[in-house]
Amino acid sequence: MAESITITDNRSGESIEIPIVDGGVAAEEWAKLLPGVWFYDPAFMTTAAAESSITFIDGDEGKLEYRGYPIEQLAEKSSYLEVAYLLLHGELPSAVELEEWVHEITYHTFIHENVRKRFLEGFHYDAHPMGILVSAVAALSTFYPEAADIFDPATRYKQVIRLIAKMPTLAAAAHRFSVGMPFVYPDNSLGFPANFLSMMWKTAEPRFDANPALAHAVDVLFMLHADHEQNVSTTAMRVVGSSHVDPYSACAAACAALYGPRHGGANEQVIRMLSSIGSVEAVPEFIRSVKEGHGRLQGFGHRVYKNYDPRAKIIRKVAYDVFEVTGKNPLLDIALKLEEALADEYFTSRKLYPNVDFYSGLIYQAMGFPMEMFPVLFAIPRTAGWLAHWAEMLDHDTKIARPRQLYIGHARRDYVPLAER
Ligand code: CMC
Repeated sequence: MAESITITDNRSGESIEIPIVDGGVAAEEWAKLLPGVWFYDPAFMTTAAAESSITFIDGDEGKLEYRGYPIEQLAEKSSYLEVAYLLLHGELPSAVELEEWVHEITYHTFIHENVRKRFLEGFHYDAHPMGILVSAVAALSTFYPEAADIFDPATRYKQVIRLIAKMPTLAAAAHRFSVGMPFVYPDNSLGFPANFLSMMWKTAEPRFDANPALAHAVDVLFMLHADHEQNVSTTAMRVVGSSHVDPYSACAAACAALYGPRHGGANEQVIRMLSSIGSVEAVPEFIRSVKEGHGRLQGFGHRVYKNYDPRAKIIRKVAYDVFEVTGKNPLLDIALKLEEALADEYFTSRKLYPNVDFYSGLIYQAMGFPMEMFPVLFAIPRTAGWLAHWAEMLDHDTKIARPRQLYIGHARRDYVPLAER
């Protein structure tokens, strides 16, 4: 059996055979037979926009791998900074490489004083922290104009370090500003997640030592969120980056995509749903209304996973570790009752399983993060994935992203003067 497809243009009778390579068929081959006939695929549902060797997902089997390593093994044995190295370099670091990498990131966590004083403090007192983050990331490009030199390896590397290092500082600063708390400087004696928690929660104490269980939970959550191949924010990073703009500007576009409720906001919707259900007793009635088509079970279902989201299995365990420290999130019982819906024919027949967002909001809420911070917490680790895809896209010498359209508007017509309309 040939690993190819044959397309026939019925207008001319001409045919072309296109090989199937790595599960795809090359659109440029199609274009040879059908110049000017476009593939209509508005949400890229059946379009592979890149060749990538970063992340592998098998949605039917519920598998997720970074550079070939299963997420379960990484979550158990690795750390976020090691995973970030792996995503960007393609291989796990040696002990020396890891030490150097962690040192570099630790010593680039500070932001320019003017980012804080002149820029962040210019926002309205109740500004949404994700709005602040999107803008602050874009503003960094003006502080590091050399970042425009994206093909110089040393300059590119420097911006990668800066972005990964400064995201937690900007994220915590955005939160502190939006709740009227003073900015907390990074503490280079702390690890990456513990430093973030210090910048979030430190008040009058000279040094904030986060509970190690909570710092570890944040580290695991960061690993789970570090990459997820061609999602909308990564696609934004690649598309904007294909114009050869600096990485801060491309990263700001990716952050903006993550701000949307369809992407970074699903865990907030889960909390809102659980709160509105209100009690375990009200769950059966809620499930009945979902089955009748009145709304969705937030945190269930996924475009790619038609099996248990592998991240959800890991995060479920993390939730219990966190609740041991913080006490149980009161919404947990409602969530556990909702999980029983898994067995219902409506959900099994549609392959609807809990996804990562079903549990992440419960954890973040138990740790004291306000809901506005949920997308910000997602952006911090996803920066590693965005940058890995950005660098890969540049290394593949990708052309500028420029899709076609099917024009369905008016045919040419003459301008009508105002008085005649
Ligand atoms: N609750 C109830 N029914 C659902 C749900 C749900 N959460 N999700 C899908 N369905 C039903 C849907 O009504 C449809 O039924 P029918 O065939 O009878 O019309 C069927 O399942 C297929 O749905 P779909 O909308 O075609 O599936 P999709 O792949 O386009 O949607 C999704 C994927 C994630 C948008 C959707 O499952 C959803 O809205 N889930 C709730 C929101 C959510 O949890 N989002 C977070 C996703 S994880 C984010 C990440 O990976 O970063």
